[in-house]
Amino acid sequence: MPDDAEVSRETPPPPPTVEGVFASRTALAERYAGLLATEGVIRGLIGPREAPRLWERHLLNCAVLADLLPEDTDVCDLGSGAGLPGLVLAIRRPDLRVTLVEPLLRRTTFLEEVVADLGLSHVTVIRGRAEDLHGLHEFSAVTSRALAPLPRLLDWSMPLVQAGGSLLAMKGSSVREEIEAAREPLRRHGGGAVEVLTVGVGIIDPPTTVLRVESTRSSRLGLGDVPRKDGASPRRPSRRRRK
Ligand SMILES: C[S@@+](CC[C@H](N)C(=O)[O-])C[C@H]1O[C@@H](n2cnc3c(N)ncnc32)[C@H](O)[C@@H]1O
Repeated sequence: MPDDAEVSRETPPPPPTVEGVFASRTALAERYAGLLATEGVIRGLIGPREAPRLWERHLLNCAVLADLLPEDTDVCDLGSGAGLPGLVLAIRRPDLRVTLVEPLLRRTTFLEEVVADLGLSHVTVIRGRAEDLHGLHEFSAVTSRALAPLPRLLDWSMPLVQAGGSLLAMKGSSVREEIEAAREPLRRHGGGAVEVLTVGVGIIDPPTTVLRVESTRSSRLGLGDVPRKDGASPRRPSRRRRK
């Protein structure tokens, strides 16, 4: 194994499937891949060994999630990190309105820089935790990848999903066992239809597994902040909208 310092930070060439997925947005996707492979690695937002497999394991893996989003959807991506999947969705789909929620300053700084660099005027970056937004915002779709085990993921995500909307969580192969173990929080959060979907067949191998949970509970907006479990007042997130 080479030392991290020896691992290449070169942007890997895009595989042939990239153009079919990103179409007219391919140049933007390539620019983002370049920023991840350079600044993303230098700032420790993505591991150096991820750089050679950026396309398959990260950009394409996330991009196919967009197939599940209807046109003009309001999307909130929780725990975006370096922008996965939220920024990739915004790059592929300019019709979406995408809110990226991430508590760590180092990461939101990178996200804001990428948004400005790529001119993604339909993206909002919020520095804060998912719980900070409860009772203040709701979205048609709440996405995430590698955020938390399912019970906590439901606690953080479902209060942000509007009635009839969906949680869309990128998950691993053990998702069905996770669902079985999370029956109580699913019920408590008004989870309706629960589906395990496979997207990206023929584009990436393995394809992406997505847990979709429909929300059936009525809106809690306007009822004031939802109290946190620890009894503390919710911290107001800082919200920056780019023109
Ligand atoms: C394992 S990383 C995954 C990052 C990205 N989604 C990905 O797949 O590369 C989890 C991210 O969730 C963020 N996070 C942790 N607690 C959170 C919370 N309560 N609300 C929102 N994001 C949170 C972390 O700061 C971190 O960036």
